[in-house]
Amino acid sequence: MNLSIRNGVEADLPAIRDILNHYILESAVTFEVEEVSIENRREWFKQFDPVGRHQLIVAEVDGKVAGYAASIRFHERPAYEPSIMTSVYISKTQLGNGIGETLYRVLLSGVEKTGLVHRAYGLVVIPNPASVKLHEKLGFRETGVLHEAGYKLGKYHDVKIYERRFE
Ligand SMILES: CC(C)(COP(=O)(O)OP(=O)(O)OC[C@H]1O[C@@H](n2cnc3c(N)ncnc32)[C@H](O)[C@@H]1OP(=O)(O)O)[C@@H](O)C(=O)NCCC(=O)NCCS
Repeated sequence: MNLSIRNGVEADLPAIRDILNHYILESAVTFEVEEVSIENRREWFKQFDPVGRHQLIVAEVDGKVAGYAASIRFHERPAYEPSIMTSVYISKTQLGNGIGETLYRVLLSGVEKTGLVHRAYGLVVIPNPASVKLHEKLGFRETGVLHEAGYKLGKYHDVKIYERRFE
């Protein structure tokens, strides 16, 4: 497996859209419910800055996008600025190959280096054993449960809040 990890660029957006749309349609791991368009991903992409709080990291396997990790604003209210929300999505054909862990590590160390981030939050829709394992392995601690916070695919889902401290 020829794996490379780098900052995301606009040319990655069609692959990123396809990876995300699979999980939107087939699972409750994300609470998006409608497929996203390329225009939607172009707007989303505008927030990223390779030397800022909000970063997009992409994994390529043999030249093909295999997954991505992103940090975005945790909440729009201004005092939340030092907090980010992080997430990671791996193509269904590349699950379980260590790529999610590698991507998440690179994202977390990248945002840590900026000195601009105080807390990272991962919101994990339960059940999601792979994501729980990944967050725990990378230094996140479970800080709470939002009971039946979302309704998708015909049922309510709990959401666990995972917190990673930087300072
Ligand atoms: C969660 C996700 C990013 C993990 O990425 P991955 O590349 O498949 O996982 P990795 O191979 O890097 O494994 C990381 C750890 O999780 C464990 N893991 C992976 N898949 C697992 C599964 N299905 N069940 C339990 N543990 C699992 C691995 O064993 C490894 O831990 P270990 O080193 O102690 O053995 C990936 O499963 C995914 O994209 N899922 C769908 C999207 C999603 O849920 N994203 C998170 C939203 S909060």
